[in-house]
Amino acid sequence: MERTCLAVILAAGDSTRMKSSKSKVLHPVAGRPMIAHVVEAVASAGISSVALVVGRDAEDVAKAASIAGVDIESFLQKERLGTGHAVLAAREAIAKGYDDILVTYGDVPLQTDGPLKAARQGLADGSDVVVIGFHTDRPTGYGRLLVKDGELIAIREEKDATDAERTVTWCNSGLMAINGRKALDLLSRIGNANAKGEFYLTDLVEIARSLGGRVTAVDAPEIEMTGCNTRAELAVIERFWQERRRHQMMLSGVTMIAPETVFLAYDTVIGQDALIEPNVVFGPGAVIDSGAVIHAFSHIEGAHVSQGATVGPFARLRPGADLGTGSKVGNFCEVKNGRLGEGAKVNHLTYIGDAVIGAGSNIGAGTITCNYDGVNKSETVIGENAFIGSNSSLVAPVTIGDGAYIASGSVITVNVPADALALGRARQEIKTGRATLLRERALAIKAAKKAKA
Ligand code: UD1
Ligand code: CA
Repeated sequence: MERTCLAVILAAGDSTRMKSSKSKVLHPVAGRPMIAHVVEAVASAGISSVALVVGRDAEDVAKAASIAGVDIESFLQKERLGTGHAVLAAREAIAKGYDDILVTYGDVPLQTDGPLKAARQGLADGSDVVVIGFHTDRPTGYGRLLVKDGELIAIREEKDATDAERTVTWCNSGLMAINGRKALDLLSRIGNANAKGEFYLTDLVEIARSLGGRVTAVDAPEIEMTGCNTRAELAVIERFWQERRRHQMMLSGVTMIAPETVFLAYDTVIGQDALIEPNVVFGPGAVIDSGAVIHAFSHIEGAHVSQGATVGPFARLRPGADLGTGSKVGNFCEVKNGRLGEGAKVNHLTYIGDAVIGAGSNIGAGTITCNYDGVNKSETVIGENAFIGSNSSLVAPVTIGDGAYIASGSVITVNVPADALALGRARQEIKTGRATLLRERALAIKAAKKAKA
């Protein structure tokens, strides 16, 4: 039988050092609130439920944390009396009875299921408390893990540590797993007789041992345990996140020429043999199929690029852009809520909004789908193998039939049937010799002005 597990996520901090009007766990990493990354990590560690301990911005935090398929309940910690006190805010959830209780922080967004699973395994192997530690060159400020004969004997907070204890470089990440059957009893024994006068969750180590329980520690990579307190740390976390995800993508078969210049969103999907050139930015909701090419300086969000399609350089795909197989969106083009059929081409300086373009159609340079009349948005439908001449305006709602031909510079306001030619512009006139006349008149004016001066 699989062990049941409740994850208690602490997110009741004041976020003072973020200097922000909102809780730090709402700040995004890779386009998604930090707290959602944490929920995702605990979910992949096989938890049954999540208890979210919130303070400021309680409602927004709960909303940001809700992820499909994860059962979450929020608990308000009214006063911040320490990490031990914070966990007990979720007393009601813990009392429901789980095999494992996993305590984690909402401001540690790089955590992954690996260390969380290792901590749970420690419980399965008979420990009452398993602490997740990390090794660091800069231990100042962290609780130190004091180990003897393979068992963790205490966690000493910086302020309560002796000089000798401060030289220890194995530190407490704050994350830990607790035997779910004993958790409430252990937690209720925590007091606040320490340098900060807080209820330290870390006291569980000595409490569990004093009751004859076994306490161990597992190790996690320092990067994964990076907490976010300031905007500077937020930027460091973003950088680590990006590096990790790019690396995973390259190992899965995506080519990136200058990966350090490519920015991914939390949900970016890129297929094998896709090529991503330098300086490409992905917002949420981008799906790039295998073999697609994204040229330099493109921005892609909420869009799908099919196999063999090419985008950019300098293209912008906005939500609802859907590029068919082998289609092309070239430089200085923007596509929003627009579908391009197989092999369709939108190569230069064009806006496609609220439009459907059939397979094989060619949209000339400077074409604009005029989708907005200042009040309503309307659709442009272009059939297959149509040709839209350069610098045309297609005033929606309007339909262009299969194989139709729009003369360049047209303003099209009426539907065009299949295989028809449409011209929507003033007829050209030729005035023989008129240029010479104009020039002579202009020169005469100039001479008159000079004579007067
Ligand atoms: C804590 C650990 C320390 C560890 C460090 C890692 C204790 C006593 N100390 O110290 O050993 O090295 O984390 O970063 O546990 N929180 C609440 N409510 C509270 C208090 C805290 O929700 O009443 C949340 C905070 O928002 C934060 C987390 O718990 O996400 C840690 O709290 P913080 O005050 O930063 O703990 P530290 O003193 O840094
Ligand atoms: Ca902290």
